[in-house]
Amino acid sequence: MNILQKVEEKYISIFNKSSEIRVKAPGRINILGEHTDYNNGYVMPSAIDKGIYYSIGKRNDQKLEIYAIDLNQHFEAEDINNLEIKDKTWSNHLTGVLLEIAKLGLVFPNGLNICFGGDIPNGAGLSSSAAVEAGIGFGINQIFNFQISLLTLAKIAQATEHNYVGVKCGIMDMYASLFSKKGHVIKLDCQSLEHEYIPADFEDYTFVLVNSDVKHNLADSEYNIRRAQCQEGVNVLNQKFGGINTLRDVTFEQLKSVKTTLDPIVFNRCQYILEEKERVEQASDALIQQDFKKLGEIMNKTHEGLSHMYEVSCEELDFLQKEACKIEGVLGSRMMGGGFGGCTLNLLKNSEADNFKEKISASYFDKFNITPEVYTVHLSQGVQIIA
Ligand code: GLA
Repeated sequence: MNILQKVEEKYISIFNKSSEIRVKAPGRINILGEHTDYNNGYVMPSAIDKGIYYSIGKRNDQKLEIYAIDLNQHFEAEDINNLEIKDKTWSNHLTGVLLEIAKLGLVFPNGLNICFGGDIPNGAGLSSSAAVEAGIGFGINQIFNFQISLLTLAKIAQATEHNYVGVKCGIMDMYASLFSKKGHVIKLDCQSLEHEYIPADFEDYTFVLVNSDVKHNLADSEYNIRRAQCQEGVNVLNQKFGGINTLRDVTFEQLKSVKTTLDPIVFNRCQYILEEKERVEQASDALIQQDFKKLGEIMNKTHEGLSHMYEVSCEELDFLQKEACKIEGVLGSRMMGGGFGGCTLNLLKNSEADNFKEKISASYFDKFNITPEVYTVHLSQGVQIIA
């Protein structure tokens, strides 16, 4: 039985009838552009074939009932138009979206029954929470015919993280879950919020994820600290030069000129972002030209920056990256996502995929006594209604 069937079956067993709509919202990878989204730079994500699946149906009353089948937990509220947010709980990812939709001045005409589950490994940096938020927003929009645009749904999902989850994330993850196109990478300008699709034909190469199995517990608070450090840099630069709203607007010369004024850690954070901005440009050119060797080199440099300048890596991710680069056929490797755990993204020769999996698993096991999950990446369609 696939996950969709499992979710629908659960729905039927709880609510004694079939759902009205079924939605799949995918997780994502990011080829390049890490921590650039909230600095208004570019990112290059794509949806993958792992996702969150929803079964949703209207009720005759105003109640909201949600079943999270992977957590085996349930949430209920008497009035869908009068929701309260609880302290740090899983259901905020969904009720937060409803509250943000209500802020648009929309009223829910009925209560809802919702059942969901998925196969995005939790804490792997593949954006399961953004998929939860994108999926529920998309489903509600559909079932009530609210006509909310995809971009607004992405902003709603991001606001949910900010206001009800406490992570001041950028917009990349939810944008990727909503806008991705099968077989393509999105090049998203996080300033204009416009994107282009780059066809991704990897020819003889493939992307493979290795899950360190380190859950990013530190990530939420450290993530917000990184954001604040970038802002600190912006404030100093803006005082000196004016007209600087984000690190997107800053040149290397300008940054260098405030080096002695800035806290050295803040300087490193800013320097990393400026370098990563350049690397995204190089990486998108390399992808378009199918210069995979170049793309691999850029990925390695990004890892170095994330590890030493932005300091969001960890021992396990550094080990996986370094070991990957020693294996035959590997062009590049880097930690992916917010950091402090989750997956590495590896670019390698198709023909070496089995050997890679075996070698990286063995060396990780030797060192940390963990057998890592290894997934081949399939670039997939964004959120969709499933028949
Ligand atoms: C997390 C955030 C994203 C982005 C990445 C780092 O996934 O949710 O907005 O900042 O980290 O690139």
